Amino acid sequence: MSPFLLTRTLPEDATDAALRADVLRGLTGTPKTLPPKWFYDAHGSDLFERITELPEYYPTRAEREILVGRSAEIASVTGARTLVELGSGSSEKTRHLIEALTGLHTYVPVDVSESALTQAGQALIAERPGLQVHALIADFTAALALPRTPGPRLVAFLGGTIGNLPPVERAAFLGSIRGLLSPGDALLLGTDLVKDEEVLVRAYDDAAGVTAAFDKNVLTVVNRELGADFDPDAFDHVALWDARNEWIEMRLRSRADQTVKVPALGLAVEFAAGEELRTEISAKFRRDSVSAELDAAGLSLSHWWTDSEGRFALSLSTCR
Ligand SMILES: C[S@@+](CC[C@H](N)C(=O)[O-])C[C@H]1O[C@@H](n2cnc3c(N)ncnc32)[C@H](O)[C@@H]1O
Repeated sequence: MSPFLLTRTLPEDATDAALRADVLRGLTGTPKTLPPKWFYDAHGSDLFERITELPEYYPTRAEREILVGRSAEIASVTGARTLVELGSGSSEKTRHLIEALTGLHTYVPVDVSESALTQAGQALIAERPGLQVHALIADFTAALALPRTPGPRLVAFLGGTIGNLPPVERAAFLGSIRGLLSPGDALLLGTDLVKDEEVLVRAYDDAAGVTAAFDKNVLTVVNRELGADFDPDAFDHVALWDARNEWIEMRLRSRADQTVKVPALGLAVEFAAGEELRTEISAKFRRDSVSAELDAAGLSLSHWWTDSEGRFALSLSTCR
């Protein structure tokens, strides 16, 4: 058996249908929105990797610090033989965990980005001969069909990506993760924590403009896939802190009155000058809120680790 398998769990046209449905719903709703999963074509995935290296973007460094310090403990507590990682991207930080999991049989990275999965998978099999890598091109919010692999299973969801899901979807998502776990399996969850507003806003609006380019990449994806005529330069990237919901919002603000055509959907979308299109929320958490949300999904938090500056947390939980 080849040590690197790449499986598309949805037919090609399912992605197309999902994009059409999301764009139609998002651009005809009030306020206008687009879901963040459409940022991540090959260019968007590269831009995200550049974001992780920015001085303002602390979450990646903070989470890596925890993984470096705690992977041996995570390995000894879980004894995982299968590691499933949702939204795995480059799998860069995950290497610390994979290295510590000495009994690991199969790594199952799951992502919508085929380019990220291929690059990460090829690199990993070269580094760890004998490790099976079974990558899944899949939407982690849809029902996941995981390959049959030896347990115990550790499901990792890193990077604070859980914060991109609004609360109702988050609850449903955690319930579906619970459904993937059997007794003895565990969930390793990365959550960014509530902190000073200025630090948070800077992390999503860097001086070099990489996050702005990432934000506008969703317009390029809609142009390419649906023949739309968005002019990315006609929008400004905006990041703001919503203190009531405790989340960052990324938005694209129209610089002028304009009409954008989306021929594949027969749509002409009016934007007023100053009107904002919401592209991402990134919720920030507290220990109590993480524990309560896990609890509501039938999971019990057993370990909670933060980086030395208390900016980011990794938690381990098991099913009840
Ligand atoms: C914020 S990045 C985090 C990447 C990596 N886990 C890290 O910590 O650096 C989010 C990742 O999730 C993927 N992603 C976003 N929405 C997804 C979805 N609905 N289903 C599967 N993957 C998704 C993106 O392609 C991207 O690789």
